[in-house]
Amino acid sequence: MKTKKRYFTIAANWKMNCDINETEIFLQDLAKKIGPDHSSKIVLCVPFTSLLIASNFISKSNFHLGAQNCHWESAGAFTGEISPAMLKSVSTEFVIIGHSERRLNFGESDKTVNLRLKNAVKSGLHVILCVGENFYEQESGITFERISEQLKLGLLDVDSENIKNVTIAYEPVWAIGSGRTPSSSKVEEICRFLREKLSSLYSESIAEKIQILYGGSMNAENARLFLKQSDVNGGLLGGASLDPDMFAQIVKVADSL
Ligand code: PGA
Repeated sequence: MKTKKRYFTIAANWKMNCDINETEIFLQDLAKKIGPDHSSKIVLCVPFTSLLIASNFISKSNFHLGAQNCHWESAGAFTGEISPAMLKSVSTEFVIIGHSERRLNFGESDKTVNLRLKNAVKSGLHVILCVGENFYEQESGITFERISEQLKLGLLDVDSENIKNVTIAYEPVWAIGSGRTPSSSKVEEICRFLREKLSSLYSESIAEKIQILYGGSMNAENARLFLKQSDVNGGLLGGASLDPDMFAQIVKVADSL
């Protein structure tokens, strides 16, 4: 029997890297390396200053444009912030919310993550909500409790219509940028757990449709192991997304599964 083709989202989180010149060169290179025929959804979450130039490029490709954060209000006296409407005005489709670097270094709480997420989805953006335990939480054996809390609080008051515009990224904080990863079976166990939680918050059929990504030191060597897991629908890549060769290889791995 022919097995059903799986569809993956391969998302790049460039973080605070690439000015506009580097963005242009990178995108041209990446488009050449990946080519027009790929089945995975490729989402490029670039810095704010690169959104416009990336948007112009992406309109002629089948990549999708993403940002790395946005505020919960639509406009106002919020120095240094950016609104969902501003992101939409440059054709941004996706936004990462609740990345651990925001939680750790910029005081993001589950409450502000929830506010940001709600306004983003209401504004028509697709949110990639990041959850994940830190090293101490892992060592203390409270991984499941922590991610379940992040999921529940992050999605507070998000109804079954708006949840369709949310993707979850499981990113253990200790794995980000460290070269260390959980085993693929642990990733599957946690992603399964997240799906069960989504099922109890919404319904089984809604939970089955929500994409759950793994992020944290994913690279061309280990991508297959993670992407083969049945509850893993893709990857959120930091370091590997800044190397066009590596990123293209990971897309090829996803396309081959
Ligand atoms: P990494 O980052 O792939 O460099 O570990 C992932 C992320 O922070 O989203």
